[in-house]
Amino acid sequence: MQRHYAGTLRKEHVGQTIVLAGWVQKQRDFGELIFVDLRDRTGICQVVADQKLTSDAAVIAAAKELRSEFVVRIEGEVVNRLDERRNAKMATGDVEVVASKIEILNRAETPPFAIDDDTDAAEDLRLKYRYLDLRRPALTANLMLRHKVTFAVRDYMNRHGFLEIETPVLTKSTPEGARDYLVPSRVHPGNFYALPQSPQIFKQLLMVSGLERYFQIARCFRDEDLRRDRQPEFTQVDVEASFIDEEFIYSLIEGLFKEIFPLANIGADPPFPRMKWREAMDRYGIDRPDTRFAMELVDISGPAKSLAFEAFRAAETVRAIVIPGGAALSRKRIDEIVDEAKKLGASGLVWIKFDAQKGSSIKKFLDDAGFDALRSATHASENDLALIVAGKTTTVWDVLGQLRIRIAREQKMIPDNAWHFLWVTDFPLFEWDEESKRYFARHHPFTSPAVADLDKLESDPGSTLARAYDVVLNGLELGGGSIRINRPEVQSRMFRALGITDEEAQSRFGFLIDAFRYGAPPHGGIALGVDRIVMLMARAESLRDVIAFPKTASAQDLMSEAPSTVDEKQLKELGIALR
Ligand code: AMO
Repeated sequence: MQRHYAGTLRKEHVGQTIVLAGWVQKQRDFGELIFVDLRDRTGICQVVADQKLTSDAAVIAAAKELRSEFVVRIEGEVVNRLDERRNAKMATGDVEVVASKIEILNRAETPPFAIDDDTDAAEDLRLKYRYLDLRRPALTANLMLRHKVTFAVRDYMNRHGFLEIETPVLTKSTPEGARDYLVPSRVHPGNFYALPQSPQIFKQLLMVSGLERYFQIARCFRDEDLRRDRQPEFTQVDVEASFIDEEFIYSLIEGLFKEIFPLANIGADPPFPRMKWREAMDRYGIDRPDTRFAMELVDISGPAKSLAFEAFRAAETVRAIVIPGGAALSRKRIDEIVDEAKKLGASGLVWIKFDAQKGSSIKKFLDDAGFDALRSATHASENDLALIVAGKTTTVWDVLGQLRIRIAREQKMIPDNAWHFLWVTDFPLFEWDEESKRYFARHHPFTSPAVADLDKLESDPGSTLARAYDVVLNGLELGGGSIRINRPEVQSRMFRALGITDEEAQSRFGFLIDAFRYGAPPHGGIALGVDRIVMLMARAESLRDVIAFPKTASAQDLMSEAPSTVDEKQLKELGIALR
């Protein structure tokens, strides 16, 4: 007799005698008739134990004993359900299995929460019992989707001549900008390995080795502040190739997405639009724009600065977003938005209602001419609301960029089932850090400056562009990469521009610098966030929904209780004393 999976039973199986194995979702006992919903990783089907249809008293007795989460093996015949028992909401709702044998393989205690997709159990409880949470069909389905994605990635990369090569997990610090997780060495007391933030240096070394095309589904570790789209350990599709340029990466990744997104019925049709970083910032205030809705930023510095309003006059820039129909927002909601803007770093937020009352937080500075000038500059329509922020350009971008997204969500301006892929290109090479008064590599220090900008490395680092690119979907950064520096002298100039001394560079990445002296081919690559891709494909809210054993927002595993203290003996062996 053949084992079948519960969720796959359909009308075409009617008449077959089959074996099912799995867990009891629920049991309903009507005396002579007992219904059992049986669940395995494919879904749920209905089993009936019916005294009228079986002469075997043991079947009825076993069915009566079943409780949620008991493990069972059931033999029976697939039959059409009676009309009144049909369930159009269930994939298997046309059929049921009449049990001829029920074997209880294991009993289960009552689980701490109902194992059901509409569970209202708190997430902390579900994470503590993650192995039970994963029995929920939605989570099981997410893990199955994740498998399909990584399987398809391997197949695609193999077909394109890429070799899957593993790189070490016990490594030296990699320069991705987040904090490293450190691992003490027992054999070398006082010395530490770092878990890789990415395999960046190793994949570049593989290019020096002549492996030409590398990929890896690589685990990366970053000790940074977590958000819904960040985990301390996460997985990348990491890619590097030699003798290529940006166009090669764009078409490689577009082709990959064209294969994987349809696995979740999402179309990804190359070529994806491209947008320069500067345009993304000016129009959306963010380097990963969500282009599913408009409400773009508008520069109104001209007319705004001609008002007698000092905060506008003194500002580097004055920009606005316009909420369609937003004049209807309550005063309370508008005040909340003002507070949000301040929390995001704005010194204030000015609002204007383009309605008959001409309501505004700067009414006394706004005569009719000023009102009309701002209305025409913002392209607002009757009954729209303009939110205006003045200040430093970077702050204004950031505040309006974030408000734009929050308000679009709140006002339900984002269309369902729209999938906007986008390449963001022409990033600045450096980012100025006000606190330490120095430049940082926006991507990482191995990213090549734009060819035309090489001379600016020393003279005007702030305006040097990078050969870097990100791929964005619906406002989420799915991946990023760059064409690398492959000439030692350019790399040295880059380090100097970053204020990294020769000695420091040598001690941190000496092996890479050395390697580049022995003939590094031109090369570049990209890394894609697997968790983020699968999260969007699964239409999930959080990365936790697509990772088997994720960490909480405070980087804990509530099930195994990691991180945890260790024995004094272990510490001693490692030569570590706690302060
Ligand atoms: P980057 O740092 O941009 O590039 O990372 C690439 C992609 O990895 C994903 N990602 C994360 N996903 C979940 N949780 C996190 N904490 C997290 N951090 C990053 C994102 C991101 O786009 N070495 C370079 C790549 C290269 O230059 O080839 C790198 O790691 O989807």
